Formats: sequence, C-alpha cells, structure tokens
Amino acid sequence: MQKSKNLVKHLVLFSMVDKRRMPSSSSRILAAALAIFMACIFLPVSHAQLSSSFYDDSCPGLSEIVLTVVMQAQILDPRMPASLIRLHFHDCFVDGCDGSVLLDDSEDIVSEKSANPNKNSARGFDVIDDIKSAVEAVCPGVVSCADILALAAEASVSLSGGPSWDVQLGRRDGTTANKDGANNNLPSPFDALDTLQSKFAAVGLNDVDLVTLSGAHTFGRAQCKFFSSRLYNFSGTESPDPSLNPSYLMELEENCPNGGDGTTLNDLDPTTPDAFDGNYFFNLVNGQGLLQSDQELYSDSSASTTATIVDSYANNEDSFFDNFAVSMINMGSISPLTGSDGEVRTNCRQVNES
Ligand code: HEM
Repeated sequence: MQKSKNLVKHLVLFSMVDKRRMPSSSSRILAAALAIFMACIFLPVSHAQLSSSFYDDSCPGLSEIVLTVVMQAQILDPRMPASLIRLHFHDCFVDGCDGSVLLDDSEDIVSEKSANPNKNSARGFDVIDDIKSAVEAVCPGVVSCADILALAAEASVSLSGGPSWDVQLGRRDGTTANKDGANNNLPSPFDALDTLQSKFAAVGLNDVDLVTLSGAHTFGRAQCKFFSSRLYNFSGTESPDPSLNPSYLMELEENCPNGGDGTTLNDLDPTTPDAFDGNYFFNLVNGQGLLQSDQELYSDSSASTTATIVDSYANNEDSFFDNFAVSMINMGSISPLTGSDGEVRTNCRQVNES
C-alpha cells in the first residue's frame, strides 16, 4: 500500500508540474488518466471499512498482546507461525474473513475444520484460544476472532524475519460456518494453474496476489500425501513430474516412500524451513517447489505471467516483502463483516448464546 501511495504521489506531482508547461487539453487528459489509475488501484479491494486504528481507544496494547502470545508459541513450536498465517488464509477464502474457520461442530454448526483442506492439517487453534483469553482479560467483548487471526498472521511473519505491516482491523465474527465452501473455494495443491487463478479471482485477488501469497510457502510443512503423486505417478504417467529438480526428487522419495501412509512432514522450503524470506522463489527457479501448485507458477506451459513475477522476486527479496504486505492486506479485506453485522465472539470456537 505504501508503494501504491508513493506511486500516486508521484503521479500527482507529475501532473501538477506538467500543468505549467502543457496546453490545457493535455493536462485534462493527464488528469483523467490519473483518476482512472487511482480508481484501478483502490477499487478492486476496498479497505474503506477497516482501519489500523480501530482498537486504539477500546483495546490499546492489542498488537503487543498478540505478538507476545505468538512469540511464546513459536518458542515451543517453531512451525507455529506458519500454521497461524495459514488459518487466516483458510478463514478469508471461505465467506470472507469472519472467523468461520475457528467454529467447532455444534447443533447449528457444521465445522469447516472437517473439510478436506483443514482435516488433520489446519492447526494452531489452541494458540488462537490463548490469544483470545489474553485479550479478553484486558478488553472483554471488544476484539473479534477474525481480527485476532489477521493480527496473528502479521505477528507470525514479522517474528519469522519477514515484513511488518499495519493490520487493517474492525472485522466482526460470523455466526455460520461453510464446510462446502471450504471444500470448494480453497485451492488444492493438485489444481491446475488456471483453477488457482480463478479461485483467487473469485475473491478479488489477481496473479500478483496469487504468486506473492504463495510465497508464504517459504516456511512451514506439508505432508507427503499432498505431493507424492509428483514423485511416482505424475498426471497418470507413472513417472515423476519432469519439472522436479533431480536431486530434490531423490530427497523427497527418501522421505516419502511410495505407498507410505502419506502423513510424514516435509519442509515447504528445504533451504530455510522456519524463516520467512524470499528463498521460496529461488527454489521455484531451481525446480524445488514442493507442491504442484507451487512449481506450476513457474514451470507450467501457461505460466508466462506468473513466471515473470516469480523471476522478479527471486532476484529481489525487498520487492517480495513490500508486495507481500500489500497482498496480505488485500486478502484480509475479503468481504469483512463490519458495523453491526455479525458479532464479537467471546469464545472463538462457538457463536455467542442469544
Ligand atoms: C495458492 C494456493 C495454495 C495451495 C494449493 C496451498 C496448499 C497447501 C497445502 C496442501 C499445505 C500442506 C498442508 C498439510 O500438509 O497439512 C499448505 C501449507 C501451508 N500453506 Fe498453503 N496453499 C496455498 C496458498 C497459501 C497461502 C495464500 C498462504 C498464506 C498466505 C499459505 C500458507 C501456508 C503455510 C504457511 C503452510 C504451512 C502450514 C504449517 O506448517 O502448518 N498457503 N498449503
């Protein structure tokens, strides 16, 4: 966002300077171009209802509480930051960022936790409970679980060496879950590139967001079952995925023997497994993307747009970090409940009793 603001400032300055030298029709054209440019930047995902200062008066110190609990969790389990950012992603792609992923089964709720992308896979719910308890102790009934997920995601990235950003806040919690939505809307590691692109487009995210947010696979783990077909029978060929780096293929075959139970964990980034850095993109260029959905951003025959973005990040970690902050804000802005919609849950696992 800071980048966009700078660009806009640049254009505004440019148009002001040029007005003095240009005939009035040219300056009108420039002004119109500027208006269209600004509309393009700000229209696709509107952040208007969320604000980074939302809890400044009602819960000062909120970010520090979240940071402290995430830091403690990271000490106990270095994988936890990765698991926490994934929860925010799995929340936002299903009916918007409304904390629905946190709801347990109940009489009225069919939990998203039992949907395929989450079952025996999504984790970190206890840490979100710990954050919620710590926050409730100082500002009861004020901070939504959906906002806690967004804050925990930012804390997780910054504590792992990645960028920081001003988290936009003011989301309210939903009162329903959508298991079918979790099964259908969340991308699968076996999706073709155009399916990934359309699942992101369905929530207002473009190719830059897709590639940038996939960079979150720079930390955390994945179970063998999510990629072992690439090792032994890629697309029914009974051969490995040709885009896999041969020595990486051997390493993965050792860790995930054919016919194994599929639950063994593998580092998503074999170089720096718990650090948030730009190595993910370097890995893709070297044929070391773990999931098919990772590698095809670079190697698929229709990947020219996404491959260009991968190349640019492989050569420039700063630009990945800057764009990651922007894309996280974009993802966190998917259909939030605001104002008096929804509620602020007191327990993230269940809707409030009426
Ligand atoms: C582009 C489509 C995506 C697909 C197909 C995908 C799929 C997956 C899969 C299959 C796993 C391994 C789960 C397991 O083994 O239990 C995983 C892990 C992970 N994903 Fe994604 N993902 C995608 C995008 C994202 C995004 C947008 C983020 C966050 C912004 C993200 C963050 C993570 C993280 C951090 C992990 C490791 C979690 C842990 O260690 O607990 N992913 N993803």
